Amino acid sequence: MTAKIIEGLPVAERLRAEVTAEVARLRAEHGLQPGLAVVLVGEDPASQAYVKSKGEQSLAAGMHSVTHRLPADTKQDELLRLIADLNADPLIHGILVQLPLPKHLDEKPVIDAIDPDKDVDGLHVVNAGRLVAGLPALTACTPVGCMVLLRDTLGDLTGKHAVVVGRSRLVGKPIGQLLLAANCTVTMAHSKTVDLPAVCRSADILVAAVGQPRMIRGDWIKPGACVIDVGINRVPFDNPEQAALGKTKLVGDVNYKEAVQVAGSITPVPKGVGPMTVACLLQNTVTAAKRIAG
Ligand code: GUN
Repeated sequence: MTAKIIEGLPVAERLRAEVTAEVARLRAEHGLQPGLAVVLVGEDPASQAYVKSKGEQSLAAGMHSVTHRLPADTKQDELLRLIADLNADPLIHGILVQLPLPKHLDEKPVIDAIDPDKDVDGLHVVNAGRLVAGLPALTACTPVGCMVLLRDTLGDLTGKHAVVVGRSRLVGKPIGQLLLAANCTVTMAHSKTVDLPAVCRSADILVAAVGQPRMIRGDWIKPGACVIDVGINRVPFDNPEQAALGKTKLVGDVNYKEAVQVAGSITPVPKGVGPMTVACLLQNTVTAAKRIAG
């Protein structure tokens, strides 16, 4: 059996088109232009690429968009001052601080300084709590994107056993909550889980969000399962000559070559979950703008 490949690009394009149309309507009918501020501290190349894409795509959707690029030695209080300014800025409805921050900065107080109504990453403790309580919340973009792909592929998720590997604040924990809200039976697995392969093998839906290249092997997957690979890991090319030239490529947390032979459906890396993240960020910014404008 070869798995159905779950392509993220066309779904993300569809979402972006819907957001673009909604932005045009809000501007025309209500004089409201959703505004997104992205903050990048330092020069991490992967973060720079993500931030560039977020800026470009928000502009392309017709939004007001500003990117604040701060030097790597920015002090905690300088970053907190910028967030306070953005909280008070009426043109800004969404604030995203790109993670990870440089090591000398403390992430948690920075995230919790963001006005929860503008927290388009869904990382603020208020939004995380609202999600657990089943209340309307701005929800982390990658998990929301995964849910869109899952519903597109499987339809109703009721009763399915979902195993989430990884318990991060950004992906693992929120996707566990979203799967639970969709009536899945959810197992949260992590680095201390006993017999992880057996736990994974019991999953109808397997979400890999551990940040370990190709960790999930083909024989960890139940035949016919739906595999959502959230990992984005840069590794040397398999071919030793290309690897010697320092060439790298992106791979997921799942061993794709093995998994594609067993799974019923699977997201590739790249072009699976990745494109959904920015599309959902745009959607969250529109949602935040509408709520703030009342
Ligand atoms: N770094 C990698 N993914 C993300 C994300 O979705 N949001 C933020 N803020 N940082 C990230």
